[in-house]
Amino acid sequence: MTRHFLDLSDAGGDAIAAMIVDAQQRKAARNGWAKGRVDADAPLAGHVLAMIFEKNSTRTRVSFDMAMRQLGGSAIVLEAGTTQLGRGETIADTARVLSRMADAIMIRTDDHAKIEELAAHASVPVINGLTDASHPCQIVADLLTVVEHGKALPGLEVAWLGDGNNVLSSIVEAAGLMGFNVRIGVPQGYDADPAYVDVARSRGSRITVHRDSGEAASGADVVVTDTWISMGQSGAEARIAAMTPFQVNQELMALAKPDALFLHCLPAHRGEEVTDAVIDGRQSVVWDEAENRIHGQKSVLRWVFGQL
Ligand code: CP
Ligand code: NVA
Repeated sequence: MTRHFLDLSDAGGDAIAAMIVDAQQRKAARNGWAKGRVDADAPLAGHVLAMIFEKNSTRTRVSFDMAMRQLGGSAIVLEAGTTQLGRGETIADTARVLSRMADAIMIRTDDHAKIEELAAHASVPVINGLTDASHPCQIVADLLTVVEHGKALPGLEVAWLGDGNNVLSSIVEAAGLMGFNVRIGVPQGYDADPAYVDVARSRGSRITVHRDSGEAASGADVVVTDTWISMGQSGAEARIAAMTPFQVNQELMALAKPDALFLHCLPAHRGEEVTDAVIDGRQSVVWDEAENRIHGQKSVLRWVFGQL
C-alpha cells in the first residue's frame, strides 16, 4: 500500500512519535555539518521528490529540497502556473505522469479535495505541503521543537490565538493523536474547523474555545499564533478588526507559564498577530521551528517510503 501523508492521522500517533525521535537523532548526527552534506546512510539515495506549488512558499520549498539532499535524493520544483496543470491538465493525469517520473509528490494547494484526488490517482506517496484545510508537515516540526525544548507532549496545554485556520486544524489533530490539549482563543465567526475538533475530542483531547485571549493563554505551556489573513483569504480589514484583541504581546505572554514557549509557523506579520518583543523575545523558538521543517520532513519522507 502506498503511504500518503495528507493529514497527521494518515500516520497516526505512534508513527509521529517515531518521526520525532528519528528527527532528533538525525539532526544530532549532522550537528555542525555543511547544510547540503548527505547524511552518512543516505537513506533516500536515488529518490526524486516532485514539488507542486499552487501557492507561495519559502520554508516548505527550501526545507523539502534540503531534506531530500540530506537524505541523498533530490527534488524538482514545479510552479503550477508554469505547468500544464495551470492550463487545465487534470489532477488525475498529472498524478499518473508524475508517478512515472518521480518517486514521491509534494503539493501545496488550496482545496483539500485536490490533494485527495492527486493521491487517489498517484502510485507514489503524496505529501501535503499545505492546503486550505491543514498543514501537517508544519506540525511535525512544531512538535519536534516543543520536545527539543524539554516539554513532553502528553498533557501539554497549548494556547492558540487568532484565526481558526489550517495550521490550527493540524495542531488540533495532533492534540488528539499525541494526548495534549488546546485552548483556542478566537473571535466569533473565525472558529476552528469542527471536523478536526470533533475527532480530537473523540480521541480524548480537551479542546476549548475562548472569546477572551487572556483566558486562552492563562497557564499555557506553549503559545502559538499565525497570520490573520491566510493565502487566498479576502476581507482583510474585517479580519484585522476582529482579531486585534487576540494579538500575542508581552502582556498576553505574561499570563502563560513563565517557561512557556512561543511558536509561529512564519511568515509573521509583526505588529499584527505578534509583536516584535514576543517574536524576538526569550520565549520565542520560531527559528528552531523553521529549521526543524527540514529535520521533521526528513522523517516524514522516511515514513512515506516505509523506513519508519
Ligand atoms: N510555514 C510555512 O509553511 O512557510 P512557507 O509558506 O514559507 O512555506
Ligand atoms: N495559515 C497560513 C500558513 C502559511 C504557512 C496560510 O495558509 O497562508
